[in-house]
This record gives sequence, structure tokens and C-alpha cells, in this order.
Amino acid sequence: MKSIRIAMIGSGYVGLTTGACFAEIGHQVVCVDNDEAKAAMLQEGKIPIYEPGLESIVHRNAAKGRLSFSTSIKEGVEKAQVVFITVPTPPQPDGSVDMSFIEKVAREIACSMTEYKIVVDKSTVPVKTGEKVAETIRRYAKARVEFDVVSNPEFLREGSAVEDLLHPDRIVIGVQSPRPVQMMKDIYAPIEAPIIVTDINSAELIKHAANSFLALKISYINAVSVICEASGANVEEVARGIGMDRRIGRHFLNAGIGFGGSCFPKDLSAFIKIAEQLGYDFAMLREVRKINQSQLERFVRKIEETLWVLREKRIGVLGLAFKPNTDDVRMSPAIELCRRLQARGATLRAHDPKAMEKAKRELKNVEFVEDMNAVAEGCDALVVATDWPEFKKLDLARARAAMTHPIMFDGRNLFDPKEMERMGWIYKSVGR
Ligand code: UGA
Repeated sequence: MKSIRIAMIGSGYVGLTTGACFAEIGHQVVCVDNDEAKAAMLQEGKIPIYEPGLESIVHRNAAKGRLSFSTSIKEGVEKAQVVFITVPTPPQPDGSVDMSFIEKVAREIACSMTEYKIVVDKSTVPVKTGEKVAETIRRYAKARVEFDVVSNPEFLREGSAVEDLLHPDRIVIGVQSPRPVQMMKDIYAPIEAPIIVTDINSAELIKHAANSFLALKISYINAVSVICEASGANVEEVARGIGMDRRIGRHFLNAGIGFGGSCFPKDLSAFIKIAEQLGYDFAMLREVRKINQSQLERFVRKIEETLWVLREKRIGVLGLAFKPNTDDVRMSPAIELCRRLQARGATLRAHDPKAMEKAKRELKNVEFVEDMNAVAEGCDALVVATDWPEFKKLDLARARAAMTHPIMFDGRNLFDPKEMERMGWIYKSVGR
């Protein structure tokens, strides 16, 4: 296999994990970040995020000299045959995407290019960004330097990013000419997955359309969960029954307190905005967003209906990350839930296996508890907000004995309702 020299511009979630995995499959990678403290930390082998399997890959490849870190885009571009843009595309208040990081990086890449480069956009961007990036590079590059722009969206999930990168369902390569295709295929040659070569606009749309569809699936099952509760049906049985239809599939049909994170909420709003700018009212996706928002509120009301007044009530919260196996609390439904309970006067104790440090920056006046089995002490109710698998091993007898009343609100349907009732819990979950 060919070892290709690659620069990742932006060493955040996507840049760092993708760069490390590219090194792992044999390429020579430099991860660039303008945050000097972060680059220094990475150079010392410290990883700023919790992602299963990432640390050992970074250490192994740094030791082998295949993975290095820098703060200089110029150095990255000079060393690389292929330059990946992996900088953030944060949301603006109106839902549209802030493209200033992409634009700035495109300019800096242009200024540093002295020979043919392939510039690959991996960040999640609105359709037609590739055209803009190419235009910007052409404008700022020294005359006659040739380049190709490629769109290569990322489909990794936090918490299983390494696995998703090394075993993807598909690899999407959007190009405007055939010239960069072979090099892109060479990069991914060690990975077994179907490759879709398409135009840049379609590649960019695939990403927003995929994330919005997954968000739609979650809102759909959450809406069905409301019907299940009203009719006495069980949403898990319904999800099982519809999920066995291969055209539907069981994945992303878990009802709960809704989706969060740095991708779905942002990408959904961005896609609605992109559609609007292109003259289409994507009302269906507006509804997906609305259902997601009301799902959390409905859960808070469920807690209130049972506990009546939340003022002076002590509630134990299990889970703060936006999903399991990550320390990421950005747009976490669990954090939002804590805020809403506090706003109604409740006192909170909380535990998360990995996200407590980050949650401390988001939440005030919460008692953070290191041992998940100690969270319930003196509480009027226990709430499950993130579906960490370890919560299933909670010492329920100990929790029950430590509480004023054994009441659990399970926002992720982790426990078996019948079993909980048998153990004497007042147990409320979602759609069951
Ligand atoms: C998501 C996509 O799954 C990735 O394919 C994509 O690459 C990524 O966004 C991105 O754009 O970078 P991620 O946000 O890391 O990945 O996490 P997911 O596993 O998709 O979960 C998102 C949210 O949906 C979480 O809050 C999770 O709890 C919730 N969820 C997921 C449900 O409520 N129900 C489900 O059935 C599945």
C-alpha cells in the first residue's frame, strides 16, 4: 500500500481521530491546530477528549513517527500531498453555519501552496461550500499553482469514532474532476468499505441529509412513544416490530429524552436553513426539531406529575454526557434536563462515568458524586439521563434503601419496568 503524506487542519474531534486513524493505516500524518496549548498537550501524548481506543492509537503512531502535531498550517501544507480541512462549522443564532473558520483556513492553505495539492473538506458544510473553497484558494494562491478540491464527509459517531473510521458503512468522495480520485482511493485502500465517487454538491448534501434523516428517525420513535404512553402500548415492542423490516431497520429507534450533541441539533437547523435559502420550506425537519424539544419538556412534566412540587426535592441524576462512551456535554439533553429541574427548584446530585469534569463547567450548584451507587443517597427520585451501559449494573437494592422513596424516572429506557416494579420501585420510563 502507498503511504501518503497528509495534513489535518484542525485537531478537534474529527481531525484528531481521523488523523490518528490515517496514521494507523500507514500514512504519514501531521495534525495542525492553532491552539498552542492543545498542540503542546498532544505533543506530550495527552489527549484532550475521551474516545475509546484513541489514546493508544495516538501513542503508537506518534512513537512510530507517523503522527505529529504542529501549530503551523504552512508546515502542514508544505509537508502534505493531501490537506484535510477539519475545523469547526459552528451554528449562528439563526441556525445557519458560521463558515469563517473554513474560509480562513482555505486562505491560509492557498498562501502556503507551492505545488499541486488536494484540498479535502471533511467538516460538515452547506452544499456549494466546495465551490466557495475552490474560488477562495484560486483567489489567494500564488499564480499557476494547481489544486483540486474534494468533499469527503465524515460519518463517525462520538464514543465509537475509531471503530466507525476503520469500519465505515461507506466512504463518500465528491470531486469536480477525476484527477484526485485515485489518491483519495489510495488513502482509504486499507479500509474495506464501498466507495461512492460523486460530485461535490451531492457529497456535501449526503452528510446533511444523512444526519437529518437519523434525527428524523429518533423524533419519529419519540412521537410514537407518546402514542404508546397514551394507549398503553410499549414503544420498545413497536420499535422491535418495525425495525425488523429491513427497509426500516432497528437502529436509531430508541425513544428517550431526545437527541443532542454537537451534530444533530446543529446539522438539522443548518439543513433547514440551507433549504430555506434554496427556496424550500423543509417543514418536516422543523417538526423533527420541535418534537425533540417537546420530548424533554414532556419528561420534566412526567417528573413533576409524580413529585408534584420540585422545590426542596433532592434528585439524583445518572448521566450528563449527550450519549454514552464520551465525555462530551455539548448540547446534552442531560445537562438541559438538569437546568430545567434546577429552574423548578430541585436540588441535584449527579454522576457521569466520564463527563463530570466538563459538566462542572456547565452546571452550578450540583453535587457531583464519584460513585454511581452513592448518587441516590437522601434523594426523592433518581433520573437516568444518559444510556451508559454501566448504569445497568447499578446496585438497585442499595439505591432503594438510601432514598426517601424509591422513585426512578428512566429517560433512556435502561431498566425493565416489570422487574423494577417487582423490586418495589415506582418506575417511569418513556413510551412504556
Ligand atoms: C452523529 C451521527 O450518528 C454520525 O454518523 C455523524 O458523523 C456525526 O453525528 C457527525 O455529524 O459528526 P454523534 O452525534 O456522535 O454522531 O452521536 P449519535 O450516536 O448519532 O447520537 C446523537 C444523539 O442521538 C445522542 O444524544 C443520542 O443519545 C441520541 N439518540 C441516538 C437517541 O436518542 N436515540 C437513538 O436511537 C439514537
